[in-house]
Amino acid sequence: MKQFQTALDGYSLVTAQSISEHTRSSVNNLTTEQLKEGEAELALILSLTQQAFEANSPVQGIMKTLTERLQALRNKSTPVVWERLASLAQTHPVTSFLLQDPLTRWSFEKPRGYSGDAYLLDFIYEHPTVAAQVKEASALGAEVYDFTRRAASAVAVRERRDILAAHVDELAAANSDAEVLAIAAGHLREAELSHALRSERLKRWVALDQDPISVGTVSSNYHGSRVEAINGSVRTILGRAQKLGTFDFIYAAGLYDYLAENVAVKLTERCLQMLKPGGKFLLANFAKDIGVEGYMETFMNWPLIWRTERDILAIIDKLKHPLADSSVTRGENGGVIYAVLTV
Ligand SMILES: C[S@@+](CC[C@H](N)C(=O)[O-])C[C@H]1O[C@@H](n2cnc3c(N)ncnc32)[C@H](O)[C@@H]1O
Repeated sequence: MKQFQTALDGYSLVTAQSISEHTRSSVNNLTTEQLKEGEAELALILSLTQQAFEANSPVQGIMKTLTERLQALRNKSTPVVWERLASLAQTHPVTSFLLQDPLTRWSFEKPRGYSGDAYLLDFIYEHPTVAAQVKEASALGAEVYDFTRRAASAVAVRERRDILAAHVDELAAANSDAEVLAIAAGHLREAELSHALRSERLKRWVALDQDPISVGTVSSNYHGSRVEAINGSVRTILGRAQKLGTFDFIYAAGLYDYLAENVAVKLTERCLQMLKPGGKFLLANFAKDIGVEGYMETFMNWPLIWRTERDILAIIDKLKHPLADSSVTRGENGGVIYAVLTV
C-alpha cells in the first residue's frame, strides 16, 4: 500500500522505532528462559487460531479466544519479552486471516506512516468514508471486522466522540461566543454530532493536527463553517510557533495515549495557559487493562500508553498552573479515562 509522508514532530510515540525506544528505556531483565517460554506459548495460541480459521469455526468465537489468550500472555510477560513476542506474532501465517479485516489491516499496514491516524479511526466510527473499503472485504474479513469494531477499545472511542460533542454543546448552550480548540483533531468526527456547530452557536472550533491530509479533510468538510483546520503539532504548541489565541474549551483525545509523561505534563501546562478564566481543558487516555491490548499490539501493531487514574493524577500533580477544579472520571464503557481541568 502507498505510504504518504507525514512530518512527525517526534513528541508522540507513533512509530515502531519510537515505541521500541520508549519500552527499552523502562529497563527490563530479559531472560532467555522467559522469552523461550513466551515463544512456545505464543506459537501454540497462533497455531490453534490458524487451525480454527482453516476449519471454518465460528469467527466470533475464534476472535474472542485469541484476544483473551494474547491478553493473558501479555499480562504475564515483561514489556521487553512482550515486545519481542508481538513482533514475532506479526510474521505468523495466521495474519493472512486477520488482515482480511479492513480495520486490523489499516492499523497494521499504516499507510500514513504512523499509528492511529484519523482514517483508521473512521473504521472504528463506522464512518461512511470507509464504507466502500468495508464492503470490499472478504466474508471472513467482514466477520473479523464485526468483532474488532465491537471490541472494548472501539466502543470506548465511539463513546469518547459522543462525550466530546456533548461537552462542546453544553459549553455553547451557556456561551454562544465560545472558542474551542481540538488538539490532534484527526477528522473532527465529534463535530458531526454537535448541535452547536450546526446552529452556528460557536465563535470558532479550531481543529489542529500534525497530519496535513487529515487537516485537508477537515478543511474541505467544514468549509464556510465555524471550524478552522490548522496544521500544527505538540511541538508547535509547546514552541508557541502559532498564534492560536485563547479558548473556553481545549481538548485532546487520542493524543495522550502516545505521549510520555514529561511531554504530557508540558502540553497540559501549555493548554492551561491558553484557556480564558473559567475555561476547561479535557484530556482523554485509554485505560489500562481493558482486555484488548494484546490483540492491538500484535496484529494491529498499535501500541499505546495505557494509563490508570493514578497515572493521570500523577500528570495533574506535576502541573504548576493553578486549577479552580479538576476531575478524573471514566466514561460509561470504562475504556477511556477523562481528566477535566478548570482554571
Ligand atoms: C487516534 S487519532 C485521534 C483523532 C481524533 N481526536 C479522534 O478522537 O477521532 C490521533 C491523531 O493525533 C494526531 N497526532 C499524533 N501525534 C501528534 C502530535 N505530536 N501533534 C499533533 N497531532 C498529533 C494524528 O495525526 C491523528 O490525527
